[in-house]
Amino acid sequence: MAASAAAVLVRYCLLLLCAAAAAVAQEVVAPPHDEDNDTVLQSSSSSNYCLSWRLGAETNNVRGWWTVPAQCCGYIQAYMAGSGQYQRDVDLIVDQIMGHASNVAASITTGAAGDEGGGDDGLDAWVLDVDDTCLSNMLYYKTRRSYGCLPYEPLSFRAWASKARSPAIPAVLGLFNYLRDAGFKVFLVTGRDAEALGDATRLNLLRQGFVGYHRLILRTASYRGQSGEVYKSEMRRQVMEEGYRIWGNVGDQWSDLLGHSLGNRTFKLPNPMYFVP
Ligand SMILES: *[C@@H]1O[C@H](CO)[C@@H](O)[C@H](O)[C@H]1NC(C)=O
Ligand SMILES: *[C@@H]1O[C@H](CO)[C@@H](O)[C@H](O)[C@H]1NC(C)=O
Repeated sequence: MAASAAAVLVRYCLLLLCAAAAAVAQEVVAPPHDEDNDTVLQSSSSSNYCLSWRLGAETNNVRGWWTVPAQCCGYIQAYMAGSGQYQRDVDLIVDQIMGHASNVAASITTGAAGDEGGGDDGLDAWVLDVDDTCLSNMLYYKTRRSYGCLPYEPLSFRAWASKARSPAIPAVLGLFNYLRDAGFKVFLVTGRDAEALGDATRLNLLRQGFVGYHRLILRTASYRGQSGEVYKSEMRRQVMEEGYRIWGNVGDQWSDLLGHSLGNRTFKLPNPMYFVP
């Protein structure tokens, strides 16, 4: 009897333990109360929305935006600075650019570039943009524009650019060095104003190791007020008129890569912080 009572007690205790364990398990897997569920859903649907927005902006389907949508401020900050994803995206695209550049270099050497020409006439060229292509303005966008959530401020940007302290984007500096050493003429084409920012831009490029470019093209007075697309197309047209073959054209804005005289291939680097028409 005593043994059987003990067995019942043990069984009862096991049941209690199981019930307690089940309760704990349920607590772990139980759905959160309404409020928590809402928060989780909102944050996941807004980060899904922001991923869609960023993709739309990068593919030039979302155009003409002045600031990052308010609900995406945290997402874009995390994308640019927190998660390392921006860096990885840049690195992947630069790998693709290097692939094209080395194919072109090889086809020029072997004469396989055919009708496109290419060779030892010193006219094989690449075009790179400057802001957020060669040089990063992320520090400025972090401190003054909350990663694109606050609107454009021409004066504070000019003050930042005048300091000539924009760091190089490391992968693009590597690309630049490769292109120069492979014998390409590198043209840096920027919408920065020649008078106001010419010296600071040259100094900044030098400080960051962009040495040996063929030409830095800044916006002179006669092109003031033109859209990036019109101005940059015209600059490339002039370069091509001099006989240069543009094998690659790299920028963070679609206005770097649309229009005419585009070159053999264009490459879009990520930039979800601002849009230049
Ligand atoms: C939480 O969200 C899920 C998914 O929409 C839903 O199925 C579930 O019923 C919600 N739970 C509560 C407690 O609101
Ligand atoms: C790019 O260059 C390759 C090789 O010369 C050529 O076959 C191709 O047609 C060119 N494409 C453009 C858009 O210029």
